[in-house]
Amino acid sequence: MKPCCVAILGSTGSIGVNALKVVDQHPQAFRVIALSAYNNFKLLEAQIRKYRPAYVAVGAQGLAHFKKTGLKGIKFYKIEDCAQLASLSQVDVVVLGMRGTSALMPFLAGLRTGKRVAPANKEALVIAGEVIMREAGRHGGSIIPIDSEQSAIFQCLDGQRSKPALVHLTASGGPLREVPAGQFKRMTPEQILRHPRWKMGPKITVDSATLMNKGFEVIEAKHLFNLRWDKIQVLIHPEAIIHSMVEFEDGSWLAQLGITDMRLPIQYALTYPQRLSSGLKSLDLARWGKLHFYKPDLKKFPSLGLAYEAARQAGTLPAVLNAADEEAVEAFLKGIIGFPQIYKVVEKVVLAHRIVKNPGLEAILAADQWARQEAGKIIYKR
Ligand SMILES: NC(=O)c1ccc[n+]([C@@H]2O[C@H](COP(=O)([O-])OP(=O)(O)OC[C@H]3O[C@@H](n4cnc5c(N)ncnc54)[C@H](OP(=O)(O)O)[C@@H]3O)[C@@H](O)[C@H]2O)c1
Repeated sequence: MKPCCVAILGSTGSIGVNALKVVDQHPQAFRVIALSAYNNFKLLEAQIRKYRPAYVAVGAQGLAHFKKTGLKGIKFYKIEDCAQLASLSQVDVVVLGMRGTSALMPFLAGLRTGKRVAPANKEALVIAGEVIMREAGRHGGSIIPIDSEQSAIFQCLDGQRSKPALVHLTASGGPLREVPAGQFKRMTPEQILRHPRWKMGPKITVDSATLMNKGFEVIEAKHLFNLRWDKIQVLIHPEAIIHSMVEFEDGSWLAQLGITDMRLPIQYALTYPQRLSSGLKSLDLARWGKLHFYKPDLKKFPSLGLAYEAARQAGTLPAVLNAADEEAVEAFLKGIIGFPQIYKVVEKVVLAHRIVKNPGLEAILAADQWARQEAGKIIYKR
């Protein structure tokens, strides 16, 4: 069987490293054609030496480094040009493991060249979901999501002829699930970064603590599965065994279950519609005994409500929500603002925004820039 040729963008991050572990599990099934990273050129170099990609995109420091190391047979690109890696004719599947809006152009490039795009990245779909889905339809590119909740919904809907009546997105509840809201102002980045169920990059871990991450997933699911925003419900499920569920008109539910390991949805997105052995331990439900579910507390976690509002109003609002959140989370991680201020910054920016309806890419990117400036003014009191 011809190996599947993959571009793994964001290869040095939590998703990228797991994607390469999937490649290790089935070395005959995959060929790594392209890799990309931003700053971490040391890890990138180790990956280049091991997987021998023909194309690599990296930030300016990394480019300077690789000029000196003289690695042979590799074409290097600036990280800003990494969309070119997503449109290479040799590539079958593009894994989007980079964080932030940097995934948008590679996402579109992959779809426009008719490829399978496997996004873990959620920012691109949050800010430009309509544009992305339109381009996928136009050019015949396909999207198999990696984000575990979206992968679960995709798996539940695969082969179904009926649209779901409701989608139930599960959420572990994050590191603050049992912490009273009164203690939030004392929370340090170190405490927030200790997620109880998933090991992820810092930005998404903070978003899991505010539940903004779940709000982003509501917006993602709306676009990926062509659902109305109010057909997507969030259910707190601390064990994070059920990755999401769909409910049909007749009252039947389908759920996707598994251990909490991103290698499962990554491998599924790469091998779909086949399933290969993952080499991971199987889920032992008897050991768990009980699974728990309850509704999210929107008073304690107002970011989720704000994201629902952005999903409802749409237009440029999700892009503003995402950009303001990115700035606020970065400021929190640097110790510039406290944890409760993340929501306050984002709320202020969202309320100040004049929404552009049915925006094209230009309006979306303008809203993104505007929101970053507004957030900066609030954070740094300029
Ligand atoms: N981690 C998870 O389990 C998980 C689950 C679901 C969804 N996601 C989503 O997947 C995406 C990545 O998450 P992560 O946790 O893997 O993040 P991460 O560990 O922070 O890794 C991010 C990757 O993106 C690269 N990068 C950073 N800034 C970039 C830029 N401006 N341009 C291009 N590349 C850039 C990084 O390179 P350097 O290492 O060189 O900085 C790194 O390779 C996010 O959108 C997240 O929401 C993650």
